[in-house]
Amino acid sequence: MNLDQSNLQKLVDDAHARHSKTSGGANASYIPYLAQVPSHLAGVAIVTVDGKVAFAGDADYPFAIESISKVCTLAAAIDQVGSASLRHKIGADPTGLPFNSVIALELHKGKPLSPLVNAGAMATVSLLQAKDTEARWQAIVDIQSALVGSPVKLSDDVNRSEQDTNFHNRGIAWLLYAANAMYCDPMEACDVYTRQCSTLVTATQLATMAATLAGRGHNPVTGKQVVKAEHVRHILAEMTMEGLYEHSGDWAYNVGLPGKSGVGGGLLAVVPGVMGIAAFSPPLDVAGNSVRGQLMVADIARAVGANIYDKQ
Ligand code: DON
Repeated sequence: MNLDQSNLQKLVDDAHARHSKTSGGANASYIPYLAQVPSHLAGVAIVTVDGKVAFAGDADYPFAIESISKVCTLAAAIDQVGSASLRHKIGADPTGLPFNSVIALELHKGKPLSPLVNAGAMATVSLLQAKDTEARWQAIVDIQSALVGSPVKLSDDVNRSEQDTNFHNRGIAWLLYAANAMYCDPMEACDVYTRQCSTLVTATQLATMAATLAGRGHNPVTGKQVVKAEHVRHILAEMTMEGLYEHSGDWAYNVGLPGKSGVGGGLLAVVPGVMGIAAFSPPLDVAGNSVRGQLMVADIARAVGANIYDKQ
């Protein structure tokens, strides 16, 4: 694949031109802040493992990271507790159910199955070694910033909107506690999880995070090793299983790349050894994945022959 700067620019320009005005989907409405983000926004970015950057459209518009934060916390936790413990306590299977499903927990005796659904994400937050709530929160700000290659900040507006409405997640946190699957105070885990969803990022930052995972944990923008190289394959496996929730199988079938979405409209995909691709556009499909984001990322993946199941 030709990854010189002018070809990268053409890839993002073409994907943006083709899909930035595609209709379909709707902003998330269960979090009031997300409902009022302008739906017309659309941006796309590529960062290669050797640090080339290309972007088009609203790639520098800051939006709520939401569930993409689950990958960051997974990266911090797996480095601390190890891959065997992470798999034993959280799991590495798809739930096949919506990201906030209580039924999924009930069906598996309280084991969350994946760090990329809400139950598993709160349990993963609780696994971080931290002496108090603020230390736990700081560990998450640090790993998010290290992965995206620049400082990440909490949006007070998003956080307030989420904290005021996160009763379902509080219920899930207590169910985990009742099943001995919560490893710190459940309301602390829920509070920190809610904050981790409320930081602002851009599509270009998310492409940098994806490129860091593509480069076995080496951030091409900062030059730092952010995740232990031997853990990246497990993070990518988790993304393949549950990164786009109950549409993860469809995404693997059509695009063939580990990916992760968030209800803020962000989506990233990892082309191992090559590059990260990310997109942002608020309208979501029924599973909570950006409609235009999926189209733009899939277009670029197809154009460069990135499907990992297609390597001879
Ligand atoms: O906990 C929640 O429901 C949100 N803060 C995040 C969910 C999310 O992004 C699911 N994504 N597609």
